[in-house]
Amino acid sequence: MLWPKYLYLLQNFNLMQEIKKYVEDNKQRFLDELFELLRFPSVSADPKYKGDVLKTADFVAQKLKEAGADKVEICPTAGYPIVYGEKIIDASLPTVLIYGHYDVQPADPLELWQTPPFEPTIRDGKIYARGACDDKGQFYMHVKAFELMMQTNTLACNVKFMIEGEEEVGSANLGIFVKANVERLKADVVLISDTSMISMENPSIETGLRGLAYMEVEVVGPNRDLHSGVYGGAVANPATILCKMIASLHDENNHITIPEFYDKVVELNDAEKEALNAAPFDLEEYKKDLAIDAEWGEKGYSTLERTGTRPTLEVNGIWSGYIGEGAKTVLPSKANAKISMRLVPNQNSDEISEIFAKHFEKIAPKGVKVKVTPHHGGEPVVTPTDSVAYRAAEQAILDSFGKKPIPTRGGGSIPIVALFEDVLGIKSVLFGFGLDSDALHSPNEKYDVYNYYKGIETLPLFHKYYAELSK
Ligand code: BES
Ligand code: MN
Ligand code: MN
Repeated sequence: MLWPKYLYLLQNFNLMQEIKKYVEDNKQRFLDELFELLRFPSVSADPKYKGDVLKTADFVAQKLKEAGADKVEICPTAGYPIVYGEKIIDASLPTVLIYGHYDVQPADPLELWQTPPFEPTIRDGKIYARGACDDKGQFYMHVKAFELMMQTNTLACNVKFMIEGEEEVGSANLGIFVKANVERLKADVVLISDTSMISMENPSIETGLRGLAYMEVEVVGPNRDLHSGVYGGAVANPATILCKMIASLHDENNHITIPEFYDKVVELNDAEKEALNAAPFDLEEYKKDLAIDAEWGEKGYSTLERTGTRPTLEVNGIWSGYIGEGAKTVLPSKANAKISMRLVPNQNSDEISEIFAKHFEKIAPKGVKVKVTPHHGGEPVVTPTDSVAYRAAEQAILDSFGKKPIPTRGGGSIPIVALFEDVLGIKSVLFGFGLDSDALHSPNEKYDVYNYYKGIETLPLFHKYYAELSK
């Protein structure tokens, strides 16, 4: 029988036309609203912006209500609130829990922005603003796709929104909220747009996120800063010692030297390696984009393997001694660094933090004292590619991009994803529409206007296929 198939395709075509028309008719407003959202400097790391972060939560709640969500609530936490809203249309339909974050990274260094970070500006079809891609531009696509489905009577699943304000500082309070609201957050899948695609020509879906163990270290030498001529050469210089200690954390193959660090790391098998490396990747382009003349990394692994499947250790910040204008001859009394490690399955952030602290204290030479303080952490995850939700996402991309998405492993971290699995027992789909070149956390962060609309058009298809395939 050809008829049902034909009818189905026709219905599908009609739905896509309807989606496109709604987006076309509301294009300017969708952009204006995102701009309004981007104008809030919702920097969660800096207490100076507290009022602005709170106002952002109000705005998000207001927009969820306007889009048609019920039970919209600004849920207080010990930190910034979580905005919740839902639309339950039929208990027999599957429920999609949409997660995103309305907080952003600090915008510094400000002088490197071409236009101010909280005055969104379009140049060359790209929206430049802090949070444009991470994650305001991306989570807001879900709010607009929801509005579209409500207005066109095409909502196919129950939806729950949970938009938090502390992702960029570790989501500690979201963890508490999730544990206390297991019943309210009951859902069949978590849908998150907070990751990247390879490119618009090569759409992809991330199927893994790395974990994180973030440490701060302090090396203390003499009880005060000293004259470097009077004491230099006879007293251990904490800045030199810290550099030596940090340098020793990688060997000549750029393999991390901390004992037990790799004990639980799972090596990919040949087939997995091959699949991973089959993704389009141009090393020359990569180097050119970053203005580097050579890539760097653990011997024996490709760049995609290094960022997607291997654990790493990076210095995020380092400071000591005199860094003001001109020269000051001083032997600093202490030196500090922030060091983070990206983790892969089955490493555990508490265990790795402990292993790191033990090792760092052990390699400290006589003459200095070392203090190690762990910051926030998070666990790695791998998301399934054989689930109904993944297939729905795959089909949605195929329809809207005309190409089947490539599964990839992302290098970033969204620590709460592992917690959704542990506490709620729900797997996630990382349905990101950003690009690695969107300059997340960097000056001149951007999000293509095209990607924003494309996301809004693709998301309703996910809901449709998820409902259909769940039957
Ligand atoms: N959205 C990013 C994570 C991300 C970016 C994943 C690109 C995959 C591709 C998220 O907002 C983020 O920045 N996470 C932090 C960790 C957090 C605990 C501060 C990160 O990855 O550094
Ligand atoms: Mn993010
Ligand atoms: Mn981020």
